[in-house]
Amino acid sequence: MNVLTVDDLTADELETVLERAADYKADGAPEAMAGRTLAMIFEKPSTRTRVSFETGATQLGGHAVFLGPDDIHLGRGEPVRDTARAVSRYVDVVMARLFDHADVVEFGEYATVPVVNGLTDAAHPCQTLADLLTIRERFGGFDAEVAWVGDGNNVCQSLVLGAAMVGLELTVATPPEHAVDGDVLDRAAELGAAPETTTDPEAAVDGADVVYTDVWVSMGEEGDRDRKLEAFEAGGFRVDDALAGDRTVMHCLPAHRGEEVTDAVLESDRAAVWDQAENRLHAQKALLTYLLG
Ligand code: CP
Ligand code: NVA
Repeated sequence: MNVLTVDDLTADELETVLERAADYKADGAPEAMAGRTLAMIFEKPSTRTRVSFETGATQLGGHAVFLGPDDIHLGRGEPVRDTARAVSRYVDVVMARLFDHADVVEFGEYATVPVVNGLTDAAHPCQTLADLLTIRERFGGFDAEVAWVGDGNNVCQSLVLGAAMVGLELTVATPPEHAVDGDVLDRAAELGAAPETTTDPEAAVDGADVVYTDVWVSMGEEGDRDRKLEAFEAGGFRVDDALAGDRTVMHCLPAHRGEEVTDAVLESDRAAVWDQAENRLHAQKALLTYLLG
């Protein structure tokens, strides 16, 4: 089984993973990866994903192999499918952070061990697991209203699907040219409910308990930086004191202070970001033990 998007899990499986993550956080995790190896393939940089997966594997009694862009032949033209088949002959599970979502899909098709998406341009399911765990901890469940204010790409799209699966009320504000994919909205509707969408951040946060944002310029989009900054700036997408109010503030990190979020907001008690970051560890350990059986 692969987890390339949140909805590769059923709603029941998602609930199981979140329960397990909470148990591991409270009581510690078993050494369920003893003698087993996780390969971690990164085409893009990472702080949280790399450290939480590697530490998670160690805490589960297993081993993790870090494979950065300059470490393996994938970075110099060996096809995704060949990498997937070869690596599968050595390791028990793979986490891959690739640019193109189609590449992680191809990796999953050719791998013979479970593959977890550690972020592509279209999805970040591991982030959503941690985010749902964080919301559940803070609100005692999913009876909360979340406003997304930012880019409608990977982190947002996974949250849209995860929210639909657990019944979390979500409103998504993006600039019109950075909206969530129609396919993701359709899948969310089938899973439970598609979020309300708007281009007005103030309308989105009205009545919300949580405001969630992400960088305006994602990894790989640096060439588009000026145009994107202008779109988000002009649309009023910065989460500052006025927009945040007394709401819980979430951010997948890394944050670009002064762009999508102010320093004051990020340093305030409203910010749940360090819990989100910690919960990556617990959620991913739960996912790994679920996938490894
Ligand atoms: N949120 C997240 O995935 O962070 P990294 O890019 O540091 O892994
Ligand atoms: N949207 C961001 C998320 C980083 C975790 C990016 O893709 O760079």
